[in-house]
Amino acid sequence: MKESSNIKITLALSKGRIFEETMPLLEEAGIQVAEKPEKSRKLIIQTSDPNIRLLILRASDVPTYVQYGSADLGIAGKDILIEHSAKHPGSLYQPIDLNIAKCKLSVAVKKDFNYLDAVKQGARLRVATKYIKMTRDHFAAKGVYVDIIKLYGSMELAPLIGLADAIVDIVSTGDTLSANGLVAVEDIMQISSRLIVNKASLKNRGDKLKPLMEAFRRASN
Ligand code: PRP
Repeated sequence: MKESSNIKITLALSKGRIFEETMPLLEEAGIQVAEKPEKSRKLIIQTSDPNIRLLILRASDVPTYVQYGSADLGIAGKDILIEHSAKHPGSLYQPIDLNIAKCKLSVAVKKDFNYLDAVKQGARLRVATKYIKMTRDHFAAKGVYVDIIKLYGSMELAPLIGLADAIVDIVSTGDTLSANGLVAVEDIMQISSRLIVNKASLKNRGDKLKPLMEAFRRASN
C-alpha cells in the first residue's frame, strides 16, 4: 500500500513568503499547521486535518508536482506560472488569485548604468534572468535587442561582475537591489500567487477538493 493512499488532499507550496502568507488562509479554513518548514526541515508536513498534507518544494517545482498529480493543489507565483505555461501550455487549472506574496517583476541595472540612453541608442543589452519567457516578451515588445543569460539565482550579482548589463528579477521590498547598488528602471508586471489544481484530481475527486478550494477563495477575498 502506498504511503499516500490514505491522504485525500496534497497541497504543494514553497517555504518563505508563500508559506508564511498561506498559513492565515489555511487557518481561516480551520486548518492548523504545527511545524514550520524552516525549523523542522521536513518536506512533508501534516496538518490538523488528517486528510490534508503539505509538500514543501522549490517554488519553480510546484507546478511540476501539480501537473503530474503528485500534488492535487499548489500555490505558485504568477512569475513561475507564466514560465511553466510557456513550456507546458494548458497543463494546470489556475482558478484563484490568492492575492498573497505580492511583488513586481522588474528590470534593474547598476546605479551608474544609463539604461534609458542604452535603449535609445539601440545598444544590444545582455540581460541575466531566470525568467526567460517574460524577459524575451518584454524586450521584444519594446523592440530592444537582448542577449538573455539564464541564471538560477543571485541575479543581482551579474551586473556587478560584468556578466550582464541588466537583470530581470522579482522585487519585493527592494532591499536586495539597494544592498547591491542596483536600481529598478522598469516594471514588467505585478506578481501575486495563485492556487493551481491538477486537472485529473479536479475531475475525479472534485468533491474532496472543492471545499478547500472554496475556503481559499473566501479567505483570499
Ligand atoms: C527574490 C528575488 C530577489 C529578492 C527580492 O529572491 O530573486 O533576490 O527576492 O526581494 P526584496 O526586494 O524584498 O529584497 P528569493 O528570496 O525569493 O529567492 P530566490 O533567489 O530563490 O528566487
